[in-house]
Amino acid sequence: GAAKPVIVAIDGPSGTGKSSTSKAVAAQLGLSYLDTGAQYRAITWWMVTNGIDIEDPSAIAAVAGKPEIVSGTEPGNPTITVDGTDVAGPIRTQEVTSKVSAVSAVPEVRARITELQRSLAKSAEIGIVVEGRDIGTTVLPDADLKIFLTASPEARAARRSGELKGADVNATREALIKRDAADSSRKTSPLAKADDAVEVDTTELTLSQVIECVVTLVEEKRAGK
Ligand code: DC
Repeated sequence: GAAKPVIVAIDGPSGTGKSSTSKAVAAQLGLSYLDTGAQYRAITWWMVTNGIDIEDPSAIAAVAGKPEIVSGTEPGNPTITVDGTDVAGPIRTQEVTSKVSAVSAVPEVRARITELQRSLAKSAEIGIVVEGRDIGTTVLPDADLKIFLTASPEARAARRSGELKGADVNATREALIKRDAADSSRKTSPLAKADDAVEVDTTELTLSQVIECVVTLVEEKRAGK
Protein backbone atom coordinates (compact mmCIF):
# COMPACT_ATOMS: atom_id res chain seq x y z
CA GLY A 1 0.00 0.00 0.00
CA ALA A 2 0.96 3.68 -0.12
CA ALA A 3 3.54 4.79 2.43
CA LYS A 4 2.47 7.19 5.15
CA PRO A 5 3.22 10.82 4.18
CA VAL A 6 6.47 12.08 5.66
CA ILE A 7 6.41 15.44 7.45
CA VAL A 8 9.72 17.30 7.73
CA ALA A 9 10.09 20.47 9.83
CA ILE A 10 13.09 22.72 9.12
CA ASP A 11 13.59 25.65 11.49
CA GLY A 12 16.34 28.16 12.16
CA PRO A 13 17.26 31.83 11.84
CA SER A 14 17.73 33.62 8.51
CA GLY A 15 20.85 33.13 6.44
CA THR A 16 21.35 29.48 7.37
CA GLY A 17 20.34 28.26 3.91
CA LYS A 18 16.94 27.13 5.19
CA SER A 19 14.93 27.98 2.05
CA SER A 20 17.45 26.66 -0.47
CA THR A 21 17.89 23.47 1.54
CA SER A 22 14.17 22.89 2.10
CA LYS A 23 13.27 23.44 -1.55
CA ALA A 24 16.04 21.16 -2.82
CA VAL A 25 15.24 18.38 -0.34
CA ALA A 26 11.54 18.51 -1.27
CA ALA A 27 12.33 18.48 -5.01
CA GLN A 28 14.78 15.61 -4.66
CA LEU A 29 12.37 13.45 -2.64
CA GLY A 30 9.17 14.36 -4.51
CA LEU A 31 7.65 16.10 -1.49
CA SER A 32 5.60 19.29 -1.26
CA TYR A 33 7.25 22.42 0.10
CA LEU A 34 5.96 25.24 2.28
CA ASP A 35 7.81 28.50 3.04
CA THR A 36 6.04 29.77 6.16
CA GLY A 37 8.15 32.95 6.24
CA ALA A 38 6.54 33.87 2.90
CA GLN A 39 3.10 33.60 4.55
CA TYR A 40 4.13 35.98 7.36
CA ARG A 41 5.64 38.29 4.77
CA ALA A 42 2.41 38.15 2.73
CA ILE A 43 0.19 39.15 5.66
CA THR A 44 2.71 41.91 6.51
CA TRP A 45 2.57 43.15 2.89
CA TRP A 46 -1.23 43.30 3.15
CA MET A 47 -1.05 45.27 6.44
CA VAL A 48 1.39 47.77 4.92
CA THR A 49 -0.62 48.10 1.70
CA ASN A 50 -3.82 48.73 3.65
CA GLY A 51 -2.28 51.35 5.91
CA ILE A 52 -2.58 49.34 9.13
CA ASP A 53 -0.47 50.82 11.96
CA ILE A 54 2.30 48.25 12.44
CA GLU A 55 3.10 49.72 15.87
CA ASP A 56 -0.37 48.82 17.13
CA PRO A 57 -0.81 45.09 17.83
CA SER A 58 -4.55 45.48 18.46
CA ALA A 59 -5.03 47.13 15.06
CA ILE A 60 -3.17 44.20 13.45
CA ALA A 61 -5.16 41.64 15.47
CA ALA A 62 -8.48 43.22 14.44
CA VAL A 63 -7.84 42.60 10.71
CA ALA A 64 -5.68 39.45 10.90
CA GLY A 65 -8.51 37.35 9.46
CA LYS A 66 -9.14 39.55 6.43
CA PRO A 67 -6.55 38.73 3.75
CA GLU A 68 -6.84 35.41 1.97
CA ILE A 69 -3.35 33.92 1.68
CA VAL A 70 -2.77 31.02 -0.69
CA SER A 71 0.54 29.15 -0.97
CA GLY A 72 1.49 26.89 -3.87
CA THR A 73 3.49 23.94 -2.49
CA GLU A 74 5.35 22.82 -5.63
CA PRO A 75 9.10 23.06 -4.71
CA GLY A 76 9.97 24.09 -8.29
CA ASN A 77 7.37 26.86 -8.27
CA PRO A 78 6.44 27.99 -4.74
CA THR A 79 3.77 30.64 -5.38
CA ILE A 80 2.13 33.01 -2.90
CA THR A 81 -0.96 35.17 -3.43
CA VAL A 82 -2.97 37.55 -1.27
CA ASP A 83 -6.61 37.94 -2.31
CA GLY A 84 -5.60 36.57 -5.70
CA THR A 85 -2.66 38.95 -6.24
CA ASP A 86 0.78 37.43 -6.83
CA VAL A 87 3.00 38.92 -4.10
CA ALA A 88 6.16 36.81 -4.58
CA GLY A 89 8.16 39.95 -5.48
CA PRO A 90 6.68 42.57 -3.11
CA ILE A 91 7.08 40.38 0.00
CA ARG A 92 10.90 40.52 -0.38
CA THR A 93 11.24 44.32 -0.15
CA GLN A 94 13.21 45.89 2.68
CA GLU A 95 10.03 47.55 3.94
CA VAL A 96 8.26 44.21 4.43
CA THR A 97 11.42 42.59 5.85
CA SER A 98 11.75 45.34 8.46
CA LYS A 99 8.11 45.01 9.56
CA VAL A 100 7.51 41.26 9.45
CA SER A 101 8.79 40.56 12.99
CA ALA A 102 6.28 42.98 14.53
CA VAL A 103 3.36 41.59 12.54
CA SER A 104 4.28 37.95 13.11
CA ALA A 105 4.53 38.50 16.89
CA VAL A 106 0.77 39.18 17.10
CA PRO A 107 -0.98 36.03 18.45
CA GLU A 108 -4.04 36.44 16.17
CA VAL A 109 -1.74 36.52 13.13
CA ARG A 110 0.08 33.38 14.30
CA ALA A 111 -3.18 31.52 14.99
CA ARG A 112 -4.44 32.32 11.51
CA ILE A 113 -1.23 31.38 9.69
CA THR A 114 -0.67 28.26 11.83
CA GLU A 115 -4.09 26.97 10.82
CA LEU A 116 -3.21 27.41 7.13
CA GLN A 117 0.08 25.59 7.67
CA ARG A 118 -1.51 22.63 9.43
CA SER A 119 -4.15 22.22 6.76
CA LEU A 120 -1.53 22.29 3.97
CA ALA A 121 0.61 19.73 5.83
CA LYS A 122 -2.41 17.49 6.31
CA SER A 123 -3.31 17.53 2.62
CA ALA A 124 0.21 16.62 1.38
CA GLU A 125 -0.07 13.19 -0.21
CA ILE A 126 3.54 12.01 -0.32
CA GLY A 127 4.75 14.37 2.36
CA ILE A 128 5.94 17.93 2.87
CA VAL A 129 8.96 19.94 3.92
CA VAL A 130 7.81 22.91 6.02
CA GLU A 131 10.38 25.60 6.81
CA GLY A 132 10.09 28.35 9.39
CA ARG A 133 10.85 29.29 12.99
CA ASP A 134 8.31 27.39 15.11
CA ILE A 135 7.39 24.42 12.93
CA GLY A 136 8.97 21.71 15.09
CA THR A 137 7.94 23.32 18.38
CA THR A 138 4.41 24.54 17.69
CA VAL A 139 2.97 24.06 14.21
CA LEU A 140 3.82 20.38 13.64
CA PRO A 141 5.05 18.95 16.96
CA ASP A 142 4.46 15.42 15.62
CA ALA A 143 6.65 15.89 12.52
CA ASP A 144 8.55 12.74 11.50
CA LEU A 145 11.81 14.64 11.31
CA LYS A 146 12.83 17.99 12.79
CA ILE A 147 15.94 19.83 11.65
CA PHE A 148 17.32 22.98 13.26
CA LEU A 149 19.80 24.83 11.03
CA THR A 150 22.34 27.21 12.55
CA ALA A 151 25.39 29.18 11.32
CA SER A 152 27.66 31.86 12.74
CA PRO A 153 26.33 35.44 12.46
CA GLU A 154 29.21 36.23 10.05
CA ALA A 155 28.32 33.37 7.72
CA ARG A 156 24.64 34.26 7.81
CA ALA A 157 25.26 37.95 7.05
CA ALA A 158 27.64 37.06 4.21
CA ARG A 159 25.04 34.73 2.64
CA ARG A 160 22.26 37.30 2.96
CA SER A 161 24.33 40.10 1.43
CA GLY A 162 25.23 37.75 -1.40
CA GLU A 163 21.53 37.19 -2.02
CA LEU A 164 20.81 40.91 -1.87
CA LYS A 165 23.54 41.50 -4.49
CA GLY A 166 26.03 43.99 -3.16
CA ALA A 167 24.22 45.01 0.02
CA ASP A 168 26.55 46.19 2.80
CA VAL A 169 27.62 43.20 4.91
CA ASN A 170 27.74 45.14 8.20
CA ALA A 171 24.30 46.69 7.73
CA THR A 172 22.91 43.32 6.69
CA ARG A 173 24.40 41.66 9.79
CA GLU A 174 22.91 44.31 12.10
CA ALA A 175 19.43 44.01 10.53
CA LEU A 176 19.59 40.22 10.63
CA ILE A 177 20.70 40.07 14.28
CA LYS A 178 17.93 42.50 15.20
CA ARG A 179 15.26 40.45 13.42
CA ASP A 180 16.47 37.16 14.94
CA ALA A 181 16.49 38.71 18.42
CA ALA A 182 12.89 39.90 17.92
CA ASP A 183 11.80 36.51 16.53
CA SER A 184 13.53 34.62 19.38
CA SER A 185 12.22 36.78 22.21
CA ARG A 186 8.55 37.17 21.28
CA LYS A 187 5.98 35.63 23.63
CA THR A 188 4.01 33.50 21.16
CA SER A 189 5.96 30.57 19.67
CA PRO A 190 9.39 32.15 19.30
CA LEU A 191 12.19 30.87 17.09
CA ALA A 192 13.45 27.85 19.03
CA LYS A 193 14.97 24.42 18.58
CA ALA A 194 12.61 21.58 19.50
CA ASP A 195 14.05 19.14 22.05
CA ASP A 196 13.87 16.34 19.49
CA ALA A 197 15.29 18.33 16.56
CA VAL A 198 18.58 17.43 14.88
CA GLU A 199 20.83 20.49 14.94
CA VAL A 200 22.96 21.05 11.83
CA ASP A 201 25.60 23.80 11.99
CA THR A 202 26.02 24.95 8.37
CA THR A 203 28.87 27.44 8.96
CA GLU A 204 31.53 25.22 7.39
CA LEU A 205 29.27 23.31 5.00
CA THR A 206 28.40 23.97 1.36
CA LEU A 207 24.73 24.07 0.35
CA SER A 208 25.01 20.67 -1.33
CA GLN A 209 26.49 19.15 1.82
CA VAL A 210 23.59 20.45 3.89
CA ILE A 211 21.07 19.13 1.34
CA GLU A 212 22.75 15.73 1.29
CA CYS A 213 22.77 15.56 5.08
CA VAL A 214 19.04 16.33 5.34
CA VAL A 215 18.10 13.99 2.46
CA THR A 216 19.94 11.17 4.24
CA LEU A 217 18.11 11.88 7.50
CA VAL A 218 14.73 11.82 5.72
CA GLU A 219 15.58 8.57 3.93
CA GLU A 220 16.64 6.95 7.22
CA LYS A 221 13.34 8.00 8.79
CA ARG A 222 11.38 6.61 5.85
CA ALA A 223 13.29 3.34 6.10
CA GLY A 224 12.17 3.19 9.73
CA LYS A 225 15.60 3.46 11.33
O1 DC B 1 12.13 33.04 6.67
P1 DC B 1 11.85 34.53 6.42
O2 DC B 1 13.05 35.40 6.67
O3 DC B 1 11.22 34.79 5.09
O4 DC B 1 10.77 34.89 7.54
C1 DC B 1 10.27 36.20 7.67
C2 DC B 1 9.78 36.46 9.08
O5 DC B 1 8.60 35.72 9.36
C3 DC B 1 10.74 36.12 10.21
O6 DC B 1 11.56 37.23 10.55
C4 DC B 1 9.84 35.75 11.36
C5 DC B 1 8.56 35.32 10.71
N1 DC B 1 8.31 33.89 10.78
C6 DC B 1 7.72 33.40 11.91
O7 DC B 1 7.47 34.16 12.83
N2 DC B 1 7.39 32.08 12.00
C7 DC B 1 7.67 31.24 11.00
N3 DC B 1 7.33 29.95 11.11
C8 DC B 1 8.31 31.72 9.83
C9 DC B 1 8.64 33.06 9.75
